Amino acid sequence: MDAAPSPPVTLVIFGATGDLTRRLLVPAIINLTQSGLTGDDLRILGIGIEPGDDAMLVGRLDDFLKTLDDGGAHAASDGWKRLRQRISYTSGDFTKDEIYLDIKARLANSNAAFYLAVPPQFFGTIVEKLSEHGLMSESETCFRRIAIEKPFGTDLASAKALNARILAKVAESQVYRLDHFLGKETVQNILTTRFANMMIEALWNNNYIDHVQITAAETVDVGSRGKFYDATGALRDMVPNHLFQLLAMIAMEAPNGFGAEAIRSEKSKALSALRIYTPEEAAEHGVRGAYAGGQLNGNEITAFRESKDVSPDSHTETFVAVKLYVDTWRWAGVPFYLRTGKAMTARDTEIVVTFRQVPFAQFRETDIKRSLPPNRLVIQVQPDEGLSVELSIKSPGLSVDTVPVSLDFRYADKFDIGKMTGYESLLYDLFIGDQTLFQRADGIEAGWAAVQPFLDMWGASSEQPETYLPGSMGPDGADQLIRKDGRQWHALGVILHNQKTSKE
Ligand code: BG6
Repeated sequence: MDAAPSPPVTLVIFGATGDLTRRLLVPAIINLTQSGLTGDDLRILGIGIEPGDDAMLVGRLDDFLKTLDDGGAHAASDGWKRLRQRISYTSGDFTKDEIYLDIKARLANSNAAFYLAVPPQFFGTIVEKLSEHGLMSESETCFRRIAIEKPFGTDLASAKALNARILAKVAESQVYRLDHFLGKETVQNILTTRFANMMIEALWNNNYIDHVQITAAETVDVGSRGKFYDATGALRDMVPNHLFQLLAMIAMEAPNGFGAEAIRSEKSKALSALRIYTPEEAAEHGVRGAYAGGQLNGNEITAFRESKDVSPDSHTETFVAVKLYVDTWRWAGVPFYLRTGKAMTARDTEIVVTFRQVPFAQFRETDIKRSLPPNRLVIQVQPDEGLSVELSIKSPGLSVDTVPVSLDFRYADKFDIGKMTGYESLLYDLFIGDQTLFQRADGIEAGWAAVQPFLDMWGASSEQPETYLPGSMGPDGADQLIRKDGRQWHALGVILHNQKTSKE
């Protein structure tokens, strides 16, 4: 089914002169315009603190698009030529009434989606002001929606307070809480992989699955984000949001349809089944690290605690690994190991589902030593997007011996998803009113509830995170966390490809 063009709408971007707008939102809208998914009735109204006019914003976007690593494709595209005529800008203080009166006069009774690409301290105020000025009131012929970027809260209490503040003014059906991981094609594919394939879903439980690993490893260091990062850390930055979205899709029950509420309800149920640890259990099931100085891919990496805007005695982590349980019948006893970090050996976001080993008895008399490797399903989210199933087969010859092989699917072999920013589907869904790829209040709070014991435990600790070398797989403690269960982390950046082997 080809998607229909979105209805007429004004995208009102708070934070229009910022990095997110120029780097992700505008290129995504150009892509949507090019593909006909948004029409000439889409307008952008940029709002910023900086004084300026329409020509200022358009001129800056023109300049920025020329610097994109796309050979000038976006800057020269017909989509941009058409879109740039429909961009306006107005400036003002987000906490004062004037700007909202201005927006009201410009919008009249038209559809609008307000996009909060601003620091989180403005989220509550902007929603309240929009509502007080009648800008969130919908009618039969006009919708009003609000899109909120992460971080949504910094712990359970603040996430609950923010939800309460927002939902006191607008309906949940008007709120689109973003997690950009849900815009990734490979993430959206998890549900199809599970629910469109009997051979996968039939084995998707604790009878057949030994454990699940979810990794988001990055090679980048904190760079110029020291101030934000020192106040945030790897756990808050990645786990209750991005990694839990992946976990929810792996752990959820089958929805009774592919509608937004059916899917979001199942995801929230899975997240609210995450075991809430005591402080002692959190200490046993979590490890954190901070990278030391060193070399990575030929570049000099400054130790996190010596980085600009980071306190030299910072207790903030740049790596975290946790072992969690989803306490449902399906997942009873199956550990979910999650890890994420900066300055690691490879950029690799992946989900590895390891199946139980087959009974070995019947192979005792063969050349196979001790055990067979378990089957694994590897969902490669990025880079090199794809899906691999690792199996054991008999290696050719007279004796019974096995060799692991991999059935591989790479997106790049079949599709061209590389040109997308990942915001296309999120923006299109915001315009057509589909909340499937956005987080509901209960899901967000369930995620924070599961990480809160780790925040409390580390917040009360006088110990600094263990250091690890740039270009490594994280601190030694992370290895011990999984090794004490007789398991090991999936090697980063390594995909089992079938190379030809010659038999001696
Ligand atoms: C952001 C985090 O939400 O996600 C960053 O704040 C992180 O620290 C980024 O680098 C990772 O996203 P992606 O899409 O590059 O994997």
